[in-house]
Amino acid sequence: PTLTGPVYDLTMQNGTMEFTPGVVTPTAGYNGDFLGPTLIMHKGDDVVMNVTNELGEITTNHWHGMHVSPEDDGGPHTTIAPGATWSPAFTVLDDAATMWYHPHLHHLTNKHVTKGLSGMILVRDEVEAAAGLPQTYGVDEFPIFLQDRNINFDGQFIVDELGSTMLVNGAVDPYLEVPAQMVRLRVLNASSARGYNVGLSNGAPLHLVGTDGGLRETPLAGSRFLVTPGERIDVVIDLRDAQGTTLNLVAFNSELEGIDIAGSANGPGGGNPLNGLDLPLVELRVVASTAGAVTSLPDSINVLARPIAAQATRTRTIRMTGAPPSPFLLDDTPFDHGVVNQTVHLNAVEIWEIRNDTSYAHPFHIHDVQFFVLDIDGEPPPPELTGKKDTILVRRRSTVRFIAVFDDHANDDVPYMYHCHILTHEDDGMMGQFVVT
Ligand code: C2O
Ligand code: CU
Ligand code: CU
Repeated sequence: PTLTGPVYDLTMQNGTMEFTPGVVTPTAGYNGDFLGPTLIMHKGDDVVMNVTNELGEITTNHWHGMHVSPEDDGGPHTTIAPGATWSPAFTVLDDAATMWYHPHLHHLTNKHVTKGLSGMILVRDEVEAAAGLPQTYGVDEFPIFLQDRNINFDGQFIVDELGSTMLVNGAVDPYLEVPAQMVRLRVLNASSARGYNVGLSNGAPLHLVGTDGGLRETPLAGSRFLVTPGERIDVVIDLRDAQGTTLNLVAFNSELEGIDIAGSANGPGGGNPLNGLDLPLVELRVVASTAGAVTSLPDSINVLARPIAAQATRTRTIRMTGAPPSPFLLDDTPFDHGVVNQTVHLNAVEIWEIRNDTSYAHPFHIHDVQFFVLDIDGEPPPPELTGKKDTILVRRRSTVRFIAVFDDHANDDVPYMYHCHILTHEDDGMMGQFVVT
């Protein structure tokens, strides 16, 4: 299902699902039993989000990737009491992109997301419309929502890092009928900890047209693209000659610890049954093309205004620290609601240097802004990471530098978050906060 604005009514509610026939799993969703509707927004719209909490416990709701004011951002400070409705209203400032929404209550983010609370947001704009990309939702454009779960013998979800059941769009072993034409997949890694290196079972390329925060300048063909927790890829696949065939969207997958999941020889199994497999995600059954099908890929899609390093007024270093059994942290400091860790000036251009001193790879996410990666261990980023990003994998003992402009929203009192998007790490305190002032 989809919702279109300008007023979006979302009710967070408890429900049940049967992932295994006959086994009832207690779940939660927005306006339903599991996950939430895809919210379609347009850049420039003035929207009102009515989020009602019928969960019976306190939570929050965050718009991941969106450039909204801190009080509308839904971080840990902006709680929604049981029975209450939170109604932020804002102008959509974002470019066309694949965003998402999920709870963000400190210590309970993994629990609430695992239960089923997350959904996708598609922002549309004129650049996207002019580019001629597939953009008829449910016809030639589909959400691909990747999550793994542990379901115990009596159907309960176990809140953990890695699951042993793969869910795509909330379903086990799903298939999708896709037309024999250019088809666009909005792939979101909404897992707590698993990384997916996504490709097609027949080896045909994916054409990357967008990253977390927007459309790329040009499409980039690749056989695999890595998506770690919190990240999105916007890809087009060419099925023009595939009518009547069946193929799979697949992913080499693994936990992120210390291994290179970019390759096919995929590191240790780590005891989890899904680790190291080239997992089938969705079976794609190719049917007849539709009227008005998109039949080609544009050569150029977008023009991106990239801040350059010389414009930056400061470089901030954030270190990823800690080693099990102690929790992973940022700058050796556990998250504290009452402590503002960084103060950024409104309109500042800043370089953030994320230094991973741990032996584990962590996806770093920052609220408020979309950034551009400047370098990884001193080298320019690979082409798939040159677009707008809000989440970036920082491999073990590696350093990522990115640049961002902190414009439009300032508030001395309400901070934005930055954190590891492995939800157990985040809940254990691998998070900090910044104010823009
Ligand atoms: Cu997807 Cu701070 O979150
Ligand atoms: Cu976020
Ligand atoms: Cu982490």
